[in-house]
Amino acid sequence: MRIDVSKLLEHLNPAQREAVEHRGTPLMVLAGAGSGKTRVLTHRVAHLIATGDAEPRNILAVTFTNKAAKEMKERIWALLGNSHRELWVGTFHATCARILRGHGHLLGFDLNFSILDEGDQLALAKECCRELNLDTNRFPPSLLLRHVSNAKQNFIDPEEYMAQWAGDYLKGRVARFYALYQEKLKGSQAMDFDDLLFFVLKLFLEHREVLDLYRRRWRHVLVDEFQDTNQIQYRMVKLLAEEHRQVCVVGDDDQSIYSWRGADPGNILRFDRDFPEVRIVRLEQNYRSTRNIIRASSSLISKNRMRKGKDLWTANEPGEMVSV
Ligand SMILES: Nc1ncnc2c1ncn2[C@@H]1O[C@H](COP(=O)(O)OP(=O)(O)OP(=O)(O)O)[C@@H](O)[C@H]1O
Ligand SMILES: [Mg+2]
Repeated sequence: MRIDVSKLLEHLNPAQREAVEHRGTPLMVLAGAGSGKTRVLTHRVAHLIATGDAEPRNILAVTFTNKAAKEMKERIWALLGNSHRELWVGTFHATCARILRGHGHLLGFDLNFSILDEGDQLALAKECCRELNLDTNRFPPSLLLRHVSNAKQNFIDPEEYMAQWAGDYLKGRVARFYALYQEKLKGSQAMDFDDLLFFVLKLFLEHREVLDLYRRRWRHVLVDEFQDTNQIQYRMVKLLAEEHRQVCVVGDDDQSIYSWRGADPGNILRFDRDFPEVRIVRLEQNYRSTRNIIRASSSLISKNRMRKGKDLWTANEPGEMVSV
């Protein structure tokens, strides 16, 4: 595999190029929609390999949604000229499933554990409600599952949940439900989506040798759509990168669309605090939207108090007027 380094840099604007070439400290790229964040990430992966700064096997590139992962994967393979088994690119969930297939036995899981989809989950939840004699009008299974999901995303296990909420009318029942639900999952060697993340974090915290293995392997950790990461994903990234500190996160501090899935926009501020030597690059040119959309969204965005400032501009046509 030979990649021409100067060709790689040719189709990048100066800020994008800076982010792709940056080495030595953690990197955070902040930009609005359509400003080439994914382009930076994919080119950075190819650039690390092309310059010899990293072997494909030493790179982990992750993101939150299947759609973003698919896009990232296709664009990286296109730049590299072919796909590469040793280079891990995918969603956090797929990455975690792969880790657990390798080391889940340390937590008592069969290596070919099954992964429940939403339908299976609901069926299992109903079974738990029946066994616990829970009135499903007052405690709909889907609501119980949401509480469980929330707990898992905050890395709270059934025992801790019970200890915290035993005396509470609603959450005390959630606690009993959570305990039984987990027991049944374990009994049938199954995990739900939240378990994939939960158990990898547990694995990393309780089995340092596994964490060390992946720390040594993934000398470069890159995260796309960073604004959508939840607490567990953030802790995972931090654990993997806090020693070598070769981490690049790319995100939009104005558009977390997954707060209902535990995404925590505070992760952008947290990253700044946990990696104080971070280099921050802002991409301020937009390639997708027309000028009027940029102007309208900038004026809305400037009212968002959490953001770390950035300005947007585009060389594109003005386009239709925007009404909001
Ligand atoms: N320097 C550039 N020159 C020309 N086109 C570019 C440049 N940077 C990005 N683009 C184009 O702009 C579009 C958006 O890029 P990209 O998907 O990387 O942005 P993004 O910030 O990740 O968007 P999103 O917010 O949707 O994730 C793509 O079609 C991409 O090819
Ligand atoms: Mg993108």
